[in-house]
Amino acid sequence: MVLMGRVVAILNQKGGVGKTTVTLGLASAAANAGRRVLVVDMDPQGSSTWVLGVDPSEVENSTAEVMGRISAAKAMMPSAWGGEVWLIPSSPRLLARDHGGSPARFREAIHAVADQFHAVLIDCPPSLGSLSTAGLSAADHAVIVVDPSALGLRGISAVADLVDEVWDVHNPELQLTGVVVNKVPAISGEADRRYDELIRIVGKRAIWQPVIPHRVIVNEAIGDRRPIHAYGSRSADVSNAFDQLWAKLRRATKA
Ligand SMILES: Nc1ncnc2c1ncn2[C@@H]1O[C@H](COP(=O)(O)OP(=O)(O)OP(=O)(O)O)[C@@H](O)[C@H]1O
Ligand SMILES: [Mg+2]
Repeated sequence: MVLMGRVVAILNQKGGVGKTTVTLGLASAAANAGRRVLVVDMDPQGSSTWVLGVDPSEVENSTAEVMGRISAAKAMMPSAWGGEVWLIPSSPRLLARDHGGSPARFREAIHAVADQFHAVLIDCPPSLGSLSTAGLSAADHAVIVVDPSALGLRGISAVADLVDEVWDVHNPELQLTGVVVNKVPAISGEADRRYDELIRIVGKRAIWQPVIPHRVIVNEAIGDRRPIHAYGSRSADVSNAFDQLWAKLRRATKA
């Protein structure tokens, strides 16, 4: 039997808002709590693959092949972050998959391995094309990442529309489960105004608490290819925020 409910697509068409950071922050929190997660890299840029210690250009079986005929079991591999965090890596071949591939087959492939993990986190590319559609088709939950800037909020309705469309056409299990706000500055009237605007767009209940603060250590961890929890007290506020979001995700995926 397929266990439902634990596959989460993390998305936004806007680049650089923190989809990869949130995916990896949740993976770091999960590993820190002794939970197994699978990160599925849908982005041809391969950022999460690279941060998890794998070179996308040397990958034999990637997400691109899982969108074709290869099983997820064959493509998944342990990451350099230790035994809890597994990866289906990206490869440059994903670019060619940005048109074509069967969303239904991809969902089936991902769900065939999902019950081996406490959560499957799908890091989507900054677009609303076939790759994000495939990611959403495989998911039970969509989580949108935004940053509290005018540009960060533009286009959220288009993302919500894609979630609706995939729900309608490919995947009746899909829910828009939450909005994660990332890169929140310590004190900023502008960010506060944007936050209020976000509440008007998506509703207060959709916004997950806590928000993720803007911190240099986040950049550093990505550059070092290490989990945010590896930095102890230097990253405590960010790690704690991800711990709470992970707990929230666990509640949502068990519901
Ligand atoms: N909370 C944060 N504090 C400081 N820097 C951050 C934070 N979140 C993300 N960043 C930085 O912002 C940049 C973009 O983040 P990230 O790669 O996670 O975004 P993305 O949405 O996945 O981008 P893309 O659309 O290219 O996939 C990275 O350099 C990252 O280190
Ligand atoms: Mg990314």
